[in-house]
Amino acid sequence: MAGSKKQGQAWQAGGGNAVRTRANVAPWRWMALAALGAAVTLTLPPARAADAYPAKPITMVVPFAAGGPTDVVARTMAAAMSKTLGQSVVVENRLGAGGTVSAAYVAKAAPDGYTILIHHNGMATAPALYSKLSYKPLTDFSFVGQVADVPMTLLGRHDLPAKTLPELITYIRQNQGKVNLANAGLGAVSQLCGMLFQKAIGVELTAIPYQGTAPAMTALLGSQVDILCDQTTQTLPHIKADKVRLYGVTTSSRIKALPETSTLAEGGLKGFEVKVWHGIYAPRGTPPAVIDRLNGALRTALKDPAVAARLADLGAEIVPEDKQTPEGLRTWLKSEIEKWSPIIKAAGVKAD
Ligand code: MLT
Repeated sequence: MAGSKKQGQAWQAGGGNAVRTRANVAPWRWMALAALGAAVTLTLPPARAADAYPAKPITMVVPFAAGGPTDVVARTMAAAMSKTLGQSVVVENRLGAGGTVSAAYVAKAAPDGYTILIHHNGMATAPALYSKLSYKPLTDFSFVGQVADVPMTLLGRHDLPAKTLPELITYIRQNQGKVNLANAGLGAVSQLCGMLFQKAIGVELTAIPYQGTAPAMTALLGSQVDILCDQTTQTLPHIKADKVRLYGVTTSSRIKALPETSTLAEGGLKGFEVKVWHGIYAPRGTPPAVIDRLNGALRTALKDPAVAARLADLGAEIVPEDKQTPEGLRTWLKSEIEKWSPIIKAAGVKAD
């Protein structure tokens, strides 16, 4: 019968070198062998994929300029994850359009675990900012896990006359149309923070976009721009060296790295809060066994005392273990899309 011949062939394939046919095997043995064959068929390919992975260097795509805050977190994680994975994790900075160039690139990469993305809140804000986004953050990626949260700081050039937040607000009001604010493009957290600041004070500033806050910081240090909102992973050394004016931290409470510094909410901008979070992604369809390897390397990296010390030095806080999982990242991203989309729509900010 055609049906049983087909079943016999399937069983033979599942049983590897077996040459017996279904007809000459007792029914209970056939059932047991078929079950074993099915189990082997189902479990071997991913197990083999995990054993073989990674067989070559992995590329970690970073959406912003080298030397900037996202890049610092990426390089710290890449170096630590490569120890567990036994292969180099090579950082590649793919710049443009507030992080969406990199995300689009990884969404379309081969789902084999050799191209991964590290990104921040920009994954959640891009859908509201870009009506023609070529990827869907929630469905075009496989999720690896979250890494760390980073506070931001509102800074001014060192020679700006305003020394405190109230003085800055007065200065901006008195110099409308003359004060500018650097950012890393629409989709960057520096832009998000700047947008909330402008809404809070009710004054529009001139935006000067860069390909990352590393070049934006260089411009601020050289007094070519007036204000920059940026992550402590880049700003702490400049704050400590007194090379910039510091107006406050963007988190809802003060941070360990700058205990004397008020939050912007304390300074009068009620409810102001931006915290940057980072996640690692792979293209949708990456085999679960490969995601397991990447997630294991991520979690091992976050337990490494050297990584913890480096991140703490930069004001970053490693996320709790339940957020370090693929589901932890997916759930968080969904909640962030739901949080930021109405805020961005209400602000009327659009990239296209
Ligand atoms: C941002 O503003 O989104 C990033 O911090 C930019 C960067 O990492 O350079």
